[in-house]
Amino acid sequence: MNGDLHSGGAVDHAAVANAHSEHADAPEFAREMWKTRLGFVLAAVGSAVGLGNMWRFPYITAEYGGAAFVVLYIIMTLAVGIPVMLAEFTIGRGTRKSSISALRLAGGKGWVPLGFLFVLTGFLILSYYSVIAGWVTRYALAGIFGGFPEDTGAYFGLIASGVPAMGFHLFVMAVTIAIVMGGVEKGIERASVIMIPALFLIVLGLAIWASTLSGSGAGYAFYLTPKFSELLSGETLAAAASQAFFSLSLGMGAMLTFSSYLSREESLPREAGVIAFSDFSVAFLAGLVVFPVIFALGLQGAVGESTLGALFIAIPGAFNEMGGIGRVVGTFFFIALFIGAITSAISLLEVVVSAMIDEWNMPRKKAAVIAGSLIALLGLWPASNLNALGALDAVTNYIFLPVGGLAMAILVGWLYKNPLEEVSRSVSERFQPLLKGWLWTLRVVVPILLVVVLYSALGEAVDAVKALFGG
Ligand code: PHE
Repeated sequence: MNGDLHSGGAVDHAAVANAHSEHADAPEFAREMWKTRLGFVLAAVGSAVGLGNMWRFPYITAEYGGAAFVVLYIIMTLAVGIPVMLAEFTIGRGTRKSSISALRLAGGKGWVPLGFLFVLTGFLILSYYSVIAGWVTRYALAGIFGGFPEDTGAYFGLIASGVPAMGFHLFVMAVTIAIVMGGVEKGIERASVIMIPALFLIVLGLAIWASTLSGSGAGYAFYLTPKFSELLSGETLAAAASQAFFSLSLGMGAMLTFSSYLSREESLPREAGVIAFSDFSVAFLAGLVVFPVIFALGLQGAVGESTLGALFIAIPGAFNEMGGIGRVVGTFFFIALFIGAITSAISLLEVVVSAMIDEWNMPRKKAAVIAGSLIALLGLWPASNLNALGALDAVTNYIFLPVGGLAMAILVGWLYKNPLEEVSRSVSERFQPLLKGWLWTLRVVVPILLVVVLYSALGEAVDAVKALFGG
C-alpha cells in the first residue's frame, strides 16, 4: 500500500499508515464517508453548480462569442477541467485526507504550503461568495413576500453594500455553518440530495417556460449566435478556461476534500464525467432562461458592462414587468440560485473545516464554528465595499485557482508515484488506454493552458486590486 504514495521528501509515516484502507474501520481512524455514491455525486455537483453557472456563464458566453464560445468552453472542460478534477480525486481518495494532510502525504513536506493556499482560497472565496448569496436570498424573499421592486437598479444600489448586505451575508454563513456542522453524511450529503434535484427541476422548468416567451428567438440569438472572430484571442481562451475552472470548483481542494470521503470501489473518471456534464447542463440551461426573459421585455440595454447588471438588475426588472407570472417564476429563479450558492458555500467551508479536523484533530462542530465565524467576519469587508468584493473575486479566480490547478497537475502528472493505479480502479479494460491520455494531458496540455490563463488574467487581477485602492 505504501507503494501508491509518493515516498520522496519527508513523509509522515504515522499518517501514511492512517491512510491505509485496512485501518479505516478501526475506531481510532474512523473517517467520515459518503453514505451512497449518489450522495457524493450530488454533493460534488452541488459544489460545482452555483453562481458561476447561473450568473457568470450566460453573460460570458454572450460576450465572448455565443455558440462558438460554448464549443470552446466544452473543449476547455475536457482539456483542463476534467483532467484537473481527476488529479484532485487521485490525491483526495488516494490519501483519504483533506488538502494539507493529503498534500503532505502525496508529495512530502514541500507541498504543505499548497495545502495552506487551498485553505486560504476557500476562506477568501467564501467571504465574498456569501455576500452575493446574500443578495440572492434578499431577492428570493422579495419575490415571496412583496414582489420584485420597480426600480431594480436603485434597489440593487441599496442592498448590495452596507448594513443590509452584511445582515444577509451573516444569514448565509449561519446556514452554511449549520449544514457543515452536521457532518459529511448527515449535513452535506443530506442537504445536497434534497436540494440538487430540486435545482435541476426548477432550472429545466424555467427553460421550458422561457421558450414560450415572445422574446425567446431574439434572446437565443443574442446568447448563441456564433461569433468565430472572438475565439481567436488569448483573452477568450483564458476566459473559457478560467470559467471552467471556477465553475467546476477546481484549484482549491474542494473536489480533493470531497473525494477523500469516497469509497475505493467507485470509478473516478465516471464520477468526473457525470459531475462535469451536470455542471455544464445547468450553465447552458441558465442561459436559455436569462436571455429570453431579458429580450421579452426589451431590456437588453441593461445587460451592460458587468455581470451584476444582468443578474441583479435586468432580470428582476423583467420579472417585475411580467406581473403575477413573473413574480412566481422569478421567485423560483432566485430559489434555484440560492440552492446553487448554498451547496457551493458548503464545499468552500468544508475545505477549511476538513483541514482543521485532519491537521489539528479538532472536533467538526468546533472547527465549523471557528472557521465559519472568521469567514463571516472577513466577509463584512466585501459586504461593505464592492471594490473589495471585486478584488477578492479577481485575485482568487485569476491567480489562486489557476496556480492551485497548475501545482496539482505537476504533482499528480510528474511526481506522484502511481496516479494510474488510483484512477484506473473500477474502470473497464476498454477504457484503460484513455487514462494514459489523461496523464499526458495533465503533464503537458494542462500546464501550458494554465500558464496562458495566468498570463492573460494577471492584468485583470492587478486592475481589480488597483480599483480597491482608488487607482
Ligand atoms: N463552482 C462554484 C460556482 O460555480 C464556485 C466554487 C468555486 C465553489 C470553488 C467551490 C470552490 O459557483
